[in-house]
Amino acid sequence: MQIFVDSANLKEIEECLKRGFVSGITTNPSILAKEKKTDFREHIQAMINLVQSYNLDIPLSVEVFTTDPQEMIRQAEEFVASFGDYQNLNIKVPIGWNELEVISTLRKRNIKVNCTCCMSYNQALMAANAGANFVSLFWGRIRDTGYDSGEIVRQVHETLRKWNSPSQIIVGSIRHIMDINQAQQAGADIVTVPPPFLPKLCAHPKTDEVVGQFLTDFKVWLER
Ligand code: E4P
Repeated sequence: MQIFVDSANLKEIEECLKRGFVSGITTNPSILAKEKKTDFREHIQAMINLVQSYNLDIPLSVEVFTTDPQEMIRQAEEFVASFGDYQNLNIKVPIGWNELEVISTLRKRNIKVNCTCCMSYNQALMAANAGANFVSLFWGRIRDTGYDSGEIVRQVHETLRKWNSPSQIIVGSIRHIMDINQAQQAGADIVTVPPPFLPKLCAHPKTDEVVGQFLTDFKVWLER
């Protein structure tokens, strides 16, 4: 199971990159809108430069910001033209009937696609059938509507594996540590995690207790 960082904040991303566990980065228009107002392309390029400074070539998802399918394709082509030297750029396209043509067209042009905003089994499978490299299921938002995110991830995982589909499941919309654990156990290939959750994945009071005890015991022994 891989961990992606769900952020466009350069400081947050660097704190993660330097710890060596990052397998990818996802953004969306709301995530980018949290950052200081700047030229959109300059900010994405700064993210790419940061990733490359760690000698990494990891998937970076950048989402189109239109609902018009032809404009989606134009934006995607523009992103590739702007950031084309970064081979692992993934264009995020929301799931939808008209968006399937966008996904299929971009894939025929060898542009990687992360089909996002998936909330159901059938949406994820349609995206995969259209050729999306990643299908992003929104764990928190699925649960908001009273559905079992884990069951949906399990069903999508089972079907994609039965088909030998190359599409990978990204679980996003993380609200709790348990979401991360349960998404992994349900069969997600990737969980994309907002940085504030990440240190908590390594923390436990009993760890602090035992490390303290070891150091205390050894200090006492050294001072005998
Ligand atoms: C993935 O990158 C998704 O866009 C993101 O996790 C959505 O999170 P939200 O449902 O909290 O907006």
